[in-house]
Amino acid sequence: MKLLHVDSSIFGDHSASRELSAAIVATLTKTDPSSEVTYYDLAAEPAGHLTLGEFMAFGGSQPQDEATKLDTERNAKMLDDFLAADAIVIGAPMYNFSLPSQLKAWLDRLGVAGKTFRYTENGVEGLVKGKRVIIASSRGGFYSEGHPTAFLDHQESYLKGMFCFVGITDITIIRAEGLGISPESRKTALEAAVAEVKKLAA
Ligand SMILES: Cc1cc2nc3c(=O)[nH]c(=O)nc-3n(C[C@H](O)[C@H](O)[C@H](O)COP(=O)(O)O)c2cc1C
Repeated sequence: MKLLHVDSSIFGDHSASRELSAAIVATLTKTDPSSEVTYYDLAAEPAGHLTLGEFMAFGGSQPQDEATKLDTERNAKMLDDFLAADAIVIGAPMYNFSLPSQLKAWLDRLGVAGKTFRYTENGVEGLVKGKRVIIASSRGGFYSEGHPTAFLDHQESYLKGMFCFVGITDITIIRAEGLGISPESRKTALEAAVAEVKKLAA
């Protein structure tokens, strides 16, 4: 199995989503020891905002300068690694009700017409098939169903929407929320999330 592991938290070793994404990858690789893992740390090596030159290169335009050429090569590798993966594990914290901008910047390199989706007479068609996405979601507060702040979730909902758009339907969320409420709440939420991770081995 080819595994793509992507982290985006700015908190390094203190990150909840990194702890969970690492636990997910450890569980999957234990289940299939022949797994090959490709890792992206988007906080350490951010892709930056998508530029017009990069966007034009998606459609086949030649980069006009050296910086755009390098960015275009990097983008092609990001897309290739995504398309080659059987499973994609994403450490995705909630920042300001949404994603870290580093993670959004990576997603901006995956939404490529003709490669991951296309428009047809009948609407949009996702071109990415047969993959599994597992999201390690971390949040300071509570936004899951039933909470009054659920409408502020533009993090999990965005990720699910993005991956559904490109054709991926097998999406699992491992969630630790309420992490900022108290140390006890953080401990309980992380323990519950790690218990969910263990179920992935079944
Ligand atoms: C810049 C920033 C913005 C945040 N915005 C929110 C937010 O909108 N809602 C929330 O519940 N928690 C928010 N948090 C708290 C994080 O979701 C929480 O600390 C979570 O554990 C982060 O995951 P990480 O440790 O993997 O980075 C924010 C944290 C940071 C650093």
